[in-house]
Amino acid sequence: MRNITGSPVENGDFFDRPADLARLQREFRSNANILLTAPRRVGKTSLVLRLCSLEKGVGRHGVYANVEGCHDELAFAEKLVDALNECGFHPELMNRVALCFRGARQALSGMKVGAAGVDMEMGEAEDPDHSTVGRALESIFRKIENSDTAVLLAIDEMPELLLALLRQEHGQDRVSRLLHWLRSLRQTYRRNIRWIFLGSIGLDSFVEERNLGKTINDLTPMSLEALTEEEAHAFLIALGESNDLLLDEAERSAIIAKVGWPLPYHLQMVFHALVDIGTRKSGTSAVEAAFTELMKPANLSRFDTWRQRLDEQFSAPDATTAKDILRHLCQHPEGRSREQMLNALMSTRRNADAAAVEDVLARMLLILQRDGYILEKNGSYAFRSFLLREYWNCREVR
Ligand SMILES: Nc1ncnc2c1ncn2[C@@H]1O[C@H](COP(=O)(O)OP(=O)(O)OP(=O)(O)O)[C@@H](O)[C@H]1O
Ligand SMILES: [Mg+2]
Repeated sequence: MRNITGSPVENGDFFDRPADLARLQREFRSNANILLTAPRRVGKTSLVLRLCSLEKGVGRHGVYANVEGCHDELAFAEKLVDALNECGFHPELMNRVALCFRGARQALSGMKVGAAGVDMEMGEAEDPDHSTVGRALESIFRKIENSDTAVLLAIDEMPELLLALLRQEHGQDRVSRLLHWLRSLRQTYRRNIRWIFLGSIGLDSFVEERNLGKTINDLTPMSLEALTEEEAHAFLIALGESNDLLLDEAERSAIIAKVGWPLPYHLQMVFHALVDIGTRKSGTSAVEAAFTELMKPANLSRFDTWRQRLDEQFSAPDATTAKDILRHLCQHPEGRSREQMLNALMSTRRNADAAAVEDVLARMLLILQRDGYILEKNGSYAFRSFLLREYWNCREVR
């Protein structure tokens, strides 16, 4: 298990999460399509890549498509076909569909793409016509449905694509059409095709914020949590054994207590910092030194994704409120009540309507909890990860 800090991990680098994998597989067996809801950086992509490779191991297709960077419906469809193509599925049909997409792309290049979007309309079941991108893609789904091999389609970062669509002309309408179209695909082709959606921005929050909840109400929500304390110990032992830095129980406990929330990513980062300073210190003082190292300006960018995602996912005023809440909370490790937070927000919004600010606060608190920033206990809100709280403090306060 290499000490990888950032990109998804696969094969021998993946710390096994058998209970989570078994839970997902059980759901698929009972024909559920899944929305993997989990905080940021919990290890969703790595888990789902493993899930896909397990599917292949039992003779099914596990197809993973990261649609981040796709800016329109056609790019999404192309990504899906590329991913299906990689598993060697019906190459002739794939070529035909790819040709159809190329034609659609050429036709689009001459016109204003944003104006109409791409026609994703579905065809009749017996319609082999490739006249629209939607129908061409559907011909593949029909083929899969009539074959004897099941396919798991994992779609990562769907909200990124939807946010990109929203920024274009008729964005709202196009997002709604794409989500409805995907829903009808799931309902029509449900014998052999299973779906799982995941992403660093929650699809559930995205659709709720835009009144599109019904487009995903057929998905079964499943959560993925950080590691348990026991797993965190096993994780650090495995890292230590593979990287020549054995950690004793006191050191492991000190790391787990300091991170406050054992995300695999944060354990990897602390371990990385320990290796960097390892020759100079040992024991729990080494752990302290590793944390100090992580909070040095040069290393803070590792956490920046947590701040950047707020700007991507929210409107500018909502992102400002979210950051104001987090700036306030990072200075209060013991937690703050909703009322205290409202007062803090109002102190910088003197002319604002308190009821409206309260409303935004309630919405933001819900999403920040879901995305793993904060935790509520007995009416008191606090940062969930101590490491992230320190980062926020270094970036925003000190
Ligand atoms: N099972 C695992 N074994 C080892 N390391 C892991 C595991 N899962 C996650 N990590 C660590 O977390 C990092 C991020 O993993 P991954 O990209 O899978 O998370 P994610 O939840 O998809 O993140 P994001 O919310 O940004 O999409 C990896 O680079 C690695 O350091
Ligand atoms: Mg991911």
